[in-house]
Formats: sequence, structure tokens, C-alpha cells
Amino acid sequence: MFIDTQNTESKTMKDYKITLLAGDGIGPEISNVTHTILVALANKHDLTFNFDKKCFGGSAIQSTGNPLPEDTLQTCKDSDAVLLAAIGNPKFDSLPREKRPETGLLRLRSELGLFANIRPVKIIEALIESSSLKEDIIRNVDLVVVRELTGGIYFGHPKGRIKLEKGGERAFNTMSYTNHEIDRIAKIAFELAEKRRKKVCSVDKANVLDVSQLWRERVINTGKKYQDISLDHQYVDNAAMQLVRSPDQFDVILTGNLFGDIISDEAAMLTGSIGMLPSASLGSSGPGVFEPVHGSAPDIAGKNLANPIAMILSAAMMLKIGLNEIEAAKNLETAVDKVLKKGFRTSDLISGTSSNKLGCKEIGEEILKVLEAL
Ligand code: IPM
Ligand code: MN
Repeated sequence: MFIDTQNTESKTMKDYKITLLAGDGIGPEISNVTHTILVALANKHDLTFNFDKKCFGGSAIQSTGNPLPEDTLQTCKDSDAVLLAAIGNPKFDSLPREKRPETGLLRLRSELGLFANIRPVKIIEALIESSSLKEDIIRNVDLVVVRELTGGIYFGHPKGRIKLEKGGERAFNTMSYTNHEIDRIAKIAFELAEKRRKKVCSVDKANVLDVSQLWRERVINTGKKYQDISLDHQYVDNAAMQLVRSPDQFDVILTGNLFGDIISDEAAMLTGSIGMLPSASLGSSGPGVFEPVHGSAPDIAGKNLANPIAMILSAAMMLKIGLNEIEAAKNLETAVDKVLKKGFRTSDLISGTSSNKLGCKEIGEEILKVLEAL
């Protein structure tokens, strides 16, 4: 199935081309740590990873004037998987939209046809106390947000800003979805639910928006093919509330681009820190992009304070979904789990002081040690 076997060609050589996009802010720090770990993992599992490091986002704007240079895009297209750290910096806020780092990311998603963004949110036992929510609310949380990624209000037309004759401006975007766009993302959610607890909750705003009405009709239609899956619908305002009220009611949350962006940040905090959450962006063929849900955190960049775990777990998703290297993925996840069980934490996971507080590089070294001993 799509999610398990993105890369179905059977390779005898176990030789993979990975494009590494370090991006901006904390990106280079978490990317270095993840790279070192992947090199060790490759040795352990007899794999060859050919890394191609390319510039992207703000750093690419600085060197080329373009957040997604053609050479970077082509290298991504030619690779088996793309591993991305984070992009963005407020210093580019005043640039025209097409020159901003975020536009590079949207273009990358669009060019690679990555319409499905998979964001798993699972409580890590050792981190239960790091969450700002009570333990009994979050203990059993194990959900996946399936976010549509190449449509909706992020990409809809018309959009823009116009000057008004009477003075002032009007700015607008369009939230639009076609049958086809809804059907294909709904299919991903149902197929994923089949392998989980068989529940899909579709999140929309069908009480107000025409686009959501179509969304709901098409999701119901697709759901008819999956009789064993229970399907329900929540309006996005209610879903936002339910996520902090009783998040363990959710299995697969299916939603559009903008609602998914918001809901997945909220869901991330259930785990204690957004610094923990990985994601996979997939299309119907070609390489996927694997990236943390968090941003580039320019305020802590260069200080060795960042939590590299979301990127390391994104690398695990890359191994599992993108490269079908299940055992290597499992070992990587186990190593992260063990390091957290030992009590090691980056500062985002601790309130107050702790003797086990580590920097970005150091927690990477602990993960490496555990990995080598597995
Ligand atoms: C995300 C990010 C991006 C998005 C930004 C950086 C364009 O917030 O991946 O969730 O809005 O999709
Ligand atoms: Mn986001």
C-alpha cells in the first residue's frame, strides 16, 4: 500500500540517494546530528546513503535570490528521499511573497506532488510529565493527522492584494478543493485507519464553507468503500477543543491544508514539545519529503539548544515509508526511546533544572551510543 511501500522497486544494492536540506535557523544543527546518526545506522545495517546537501529556504535566498533554486529542486526530484530540517526567518518577512522561504517549501511540495502529509502523534511514556496537559488526559494518545498538502487555501486562486479606489487595500485567498483532490487524500486516511484502530474523523467547517460541504460529501462517498472503518465528522472549532479535552478519542484525523496545519501544531503539544514530532509528505510516486513539524526557531539558533529528535524521527519515517528499511527505522526509534528513558532531555522538554539536560549535539551523541550498542 501507498504508505508502506512508497519505494517499491526492489533494490539489490541497498544504495540510496538522499537529498539533505538543512535550511535555516536551528536547521543546520539538527541536520548535522541527524546526518551523523544516519551514517552510523547505514554502517550497522549495511546500507549506503549518498547524501546530497543542497541549499533551500532563507539560506538559498541569501546565496541565489531564490528559496528553491533549480539545482536543489532537480536534485530532490532525482533522489530516493528528501530529508528536510526547517526553513524560515523573520528577517525575510518583508520580501515579496514569491521570494520568501515558505514559498520555496510550498513549491517543493507542489513540484513533487506531495499531496499527503502524515503527522503521527504518539505519547512517549518517558515524556508524559513534559506535557502541559494532565497525565490522564494524554496517556493513551496515539493519533495521526492526515493533512492535505497541495491544495486548499494555500494554493487556491484567485489570490492577491489590490488597492482600492477609495484608498486602502483588499487582500484575499481562495479555499478550493476538487473532487479528485478530496478523494485521493480521503483514500490515504481510510487505508491508514485500516491498519490502525479503524476510525477516521474528518475535520471541516461544513456549517459555513461551501468547500467544506463538498469535502464532507466526498469523504462520505469514499468512506462507503471502507465498511469496517467508522467515520465521523467534526467542525474544526470543535476538533480543536476535543484535542485538548479528550485527545484519545482520535485515531486518524483527516483534514485540509490550513486546518491540518493548525490542528497538527496543537496535537504536537500533547506530546510535551513540538520538538518531538516528525512528518512525511508523500505523493502517488517519486520521492517523499520527511521533515519535522516544527519551524526553524531562529531565537535559539546556533546555541546548541535545539531538540533534534523530531528530525531524527523524521529520518526514521523516511527509512520506513520512503525506503522500506523497516529494521533500520525500528532501531532508530528504539534508540531515541531508550535515551529518553534514561532521562536525557533537551531544554524544551524540561521545566526547571535537571542534571540530565543536554544540548542538541550531546543528545545526538547519546542516541548514537545507544544505537551502536543495540
Ligand atoms: C508546516 C509549516 C509550513 C506550512 C510553513 C513553513 C509554510 O508551518 O509544515 O506545518 O504552513 O505548511
Ligand atoms: Mn505548520
